[in-house]
Amino acid sequence: MFRYTRLALLCSAALITTLSGCGPQNTTTEKAAEVKAVAPDSLSLWPELKSPLINNDTEQRVQQLLSAMTIEQKVAQLIQPDIRWMTVEDMRQYGFGSYLNGGGAYPNDNKNSTAADWVALAQAYYDAGVDATKDGSSIPPIWGTDAVHGHNNVIGATIFPHNIGLGAANNAELVEAIGKATATEVAATGINWIFAPTVAVARDDRWGRSYESYSEDPAIVKELGAALVKGIQGNPGSDFMQSGRLIATAKHYLGDGGTENGKDQGNTLSNEADLVRLHAQGYITSLNAGVQTVMASFNSWHGDKMHGNHYLLTTVLKERLGFDGLVVGDWNGHGQLPGCTNTSCAAAINAGVDILMAPEDGKALYTNTLAQAKAGEISAARLDDAVSRILRVKIRAGLFEKGNPAQSELAGKAELIGHADHQAIAAQAVRESLVLLKNNNQLLPLAPKQKVLVTGDGADNIGKQSGGWTLTWQGTGNVNADFPNGRSIYSGIQQQVEAAQGTVELSADGSYQQKPDVAIVVIGENPYAEFDGDIKTLDYQAGKNTDLELLKKLKADGIPVVTVFLTGRPLWVNPELNQSDAFVAAWLPGSAGQAVAEVLFKTAAGEVHYDFKGKLPFSWPKTADQTPLNQGESNYEPLFALGYGLTYQDNTTIANDLSEQINSAQSVSNDSLSLFERRPASGYSLILQDETAVVTVTGNKAKSADQSLNLAAVNWQKQEDALLLDWAANSKAKLVLQAAAPLDASGYGQLVVDMKWNAAPTAAVTLAQSCGSGCGGTLNLAELIGSKAAGQWHKVVIDLGCFAAKGAALNHLQQPFVLHSEAAYQLSISNIRLTPATATADLSCPAT
Ligand code: BGC
Ligand code: BGC
Repeated sequence: MFRYTRLALLCSAALITTLSGCGPQNTTTEKAAEVKAVAPDSLSLWPELKSPLINNDTEQRVQQLLSAMTIEQKVAQLIQPDIRWMTVEDMRQYGFGSYLNGGGAYPNDNKNSTAADWVALAQAYYDAGVDATKDGSSIPPIWGTDAVHGHNNVIGATIFPHNIGLGAANNAELVEAIGKATATEVAATGINWIFAPTVAVARDDRWGRSYESYSEDPAIVKELGAALVKGIQGNPGSDFMQSGRLIATAKHYLGDGGTENGKDQGNTLSNEADLVRLHAQGYITSLNAGVQTVMASFNSWHGDKMHGNHYLLTTVLKERLGFDGLVVGDWNGHGQLPGCTNTSCAAAINAGVDILMAPEDGKALYTNTLAQAKAGEISAARLDDAVSRILRVKIRAGLFEKGNPAQSELAGKAELIGHADHQAIAAQAVRESLVLLKNNNQLLPLAPKQKVLVTGDGADNIGKQSGGWTLTWQGTGNVNADFPNGRSIYSGIQQQVEAAQGTVELSADGSYQQKPDVAIVVIGENPYAEFDGDIKTLDYQAGKNTDLELLKKLKADGIPVVTVFLTGRPLWVNPELNQSDAFVAAWLPGSAGQAVAEVLFKTAAGEVHYDFKGKLPFSWPKTADQTPLNQGESNYEPLFALGYGLTYQDNTTIANDLSEQINSAQSVSNDSLSLFERRPASGYSLILQDETAVVTVTGNKAKSADQSLNLAAVNWQKQEDALLLDWAANSKAKLVLQAAAPLDASGYGQLVVDMKWNAAPTAAVTLAQSCGSGCGGTLNLAELIGSKAAGQWHKVVIDLGCFAAKGAALNHLQQPFVLHSEAAYQLSISNIRLTPATATADLSCPAT
């Protein structure tokens, strides 16, 4: 079957023009399958590799262990739940082979868990996992975590720059040191498996995971990816898996950075030669470095989801590339295969996935997989192969010797979390990652002994400078106090300047007491992760120009401006560049924010402290619609090419008249207006408002100040794409979407929201639109809800005219969505939008 699919796309990609089987004459499946069998030798595009860790004793041990296992014990090795959905008793009952803590998952759901708390949980799962009194197998379980820029789910951990910054630094030795430091901090929490490096080669910067990619250039990715593997695992033949070294993962296999329009989990259309040349390079070097696990990707290749691609997972990766470690699936990635669900998917295992990541549904998936194995839908040979791989990795990682997690060498050593040595490595990484894009009149380096204004919403904001995958999955909801070992960019500037008797003023909006000699403006993208970071245009400010206004104001005041740009990708910033004398791409530097000042400022004695070293790992766009934009492609006309980056030796002037034109193709037009899609649209915030106080929702959980309304992000079609609202009886608290500036909704016809409930309401559930104090219209949805089936999602459509009839002035809505329940009630909602009046409304407007 897989062969059939592969040939079809080889034909369509016109790779093999001479192949007789390609073309319209080839109409029946049988015929195509036949041709498939004599398919051209595309495998020769791939190098032949061999694992550097093959060892006869290990293989014998694998066989011994395997031969003593029941089918139940074997299947349990294949299932990986998340700690939020697996109790210790579940582990004892099932003997799962591994488990994970996804982004923003901590022991006891406590963000402030200590190293001891993490180790205690590891020990509890371990004890339960090796307890063979139930069905368990006494094979130690492994715990995987997304330590993708340091041990980023752990409070106080050293947060390194995201990969994009490390690509700019392009220093393999440094990346290896980062890998080792990260592994040390992870080992201190009793965890043994790291889901990094990401070796994606991001080719369209609209992709929300561009910052997890070292570069658009596979040459950089292949070097740095392998370096991180060596840092985490140690080197085969020398310090492999020695003290503090853990299991690494090359992810996400294959082609995650090559999807159409940069869509996360999208479809990659490269031909096979490009797959090898661009997207596979990081795997080839990681395998040579001995990487023990590979994560399958959510993306498709020519329409086929990778989790089901036998050719790429088995024929290429395991056979041709000689990979003898294990393939882990991504978060419910198996559930996306045709014919599969999150709880049942023999196809992924048969294609070559050895461990299914099943965060919420591990138990049901176990039951179904066991039945499939017993029925032969998963062959005994395939099951044994998968389990052998898992055992091999566990043996190589020394799990059987290490025994109790709590007694392993580094476990519980809280002093290793955020250790000064690791912070020094992070600071070096930050300094080397900064790319100087513009430095007119050699404004930089700055003398520290002057009046410095520090402004912009990123100046004193460690959460913003760290980006996604930081303490929470999306990186949202963090405050500086969440980083006990972190420093903001502002704090570093203050330290440098004050030490030299200069003065510093910090202001959020650019106002100042004393006219400064220079302003440092720290602005940029707010945190996001995965698909939440996908964008449609590279235009940085798309629709809002607050940062630009700040720069213009300073410029108008005659103050020289240094812009420090925090970002997960190159963006179109011509207007901001024009208003800045100097402009630094700082990427997402992480917790060592102080290191930025070490490059921007001279020493008190007037010497250059550190020069700029960073070079662009991605091409920088000249227009907002330059997507994709990669060196080597036709019509390559970047503003700054791959590899660009000034130093203090350069005296280069960038004219201040870069085009600020946005042509119509670049502006994003929408027939409907999304107000909330997993998070509020830009210009809106989500608040919980009771009679006395307002709580702004920033992370994935919140409570109104009076505690009567609870909000939690929950999963519907994708992770955390819906909100579960839970009102206590007599709650006065409302869920409100607040507009920063009044919204003119008069051009739209309907308000649409997806909703789900588990029971009909017993009292009024109201939805209102407010246009300020005393202005607004409220509708009761109770009857509408009661008339539709409970327990499933409904698209609820309401004519805006109904709100208008009740008094809402549609042309200046301050709160376009206000939801409340009078009785105790639970409601899930998702995707709030305004649309033209095209659908049949669910509510006939109540009389005024
Ligand atoms: C991401 C992976 C990550 C996994 C576990 C997935 O959604 O794609 O990169 O390792 O979640 O958190
Ligand atoms: C979870 C994260 C996880 C992510 C993976 C989210 O729903 O809360 O922990 O890493 O999904 O995509």
